[in-house]
Amino acid sequence: MKIAIGADHGGFAAKKAIFEHLQEKGFELKDFGTHSEESCDYPDIAHEVAKAVAGGQFDLGILICGTGVGMSIAANKVPGIRASLCGDTYSARMTRNHNDSNILCLGARVTGLGLMLDIVDAYLAESFSGGRHQRRIDKIEQL
Ligand code: RB5
Repeated sequence: MKIAIGADHGGFAAKKAIFEHLQEKGFELKDFGTHSEESCDYPDIAHEVAKAVAGGQFDLGILICGTGVGMSIAANKVPGIRASLCGDTYSARMTRNHNDSNILCLGARVTGLGLMLDIVDAYLAESFSGGRHQRRIDKIEQL
């Protein structure tokens, strides 16, 4: 599974930890930045990761900012992206299973690192169940 990961300065430290966690598990990863604590604009990173996922170069994406809100708003502007801000493992599993979410957003100033790692694991372990949920995804696409 190929995963695109990105963060702004608010999520920089968490991105590093999540990247290392997933690398140890053998995932194929690309880090889209940012590469320091210096202030940057989350829509720039969200756009790069969202384009790469929507374009099919990556199976899933992970975006981290202070709250996760800005990243999710920005990523969801890109056609084909269903970005989900999750602060618990149940939502992480269900948004893959029901919403066919393709980008996980995390808030590093809201959610502790241990829980973020559990959320990432739960999200990546789940898959879309299709069926009636596909009909609902189709309706989202038509909005
Ligand atoms: C950056 O200060 C902060 O606004 C950003 O990380 C994020 O929380 C935006 O939604």
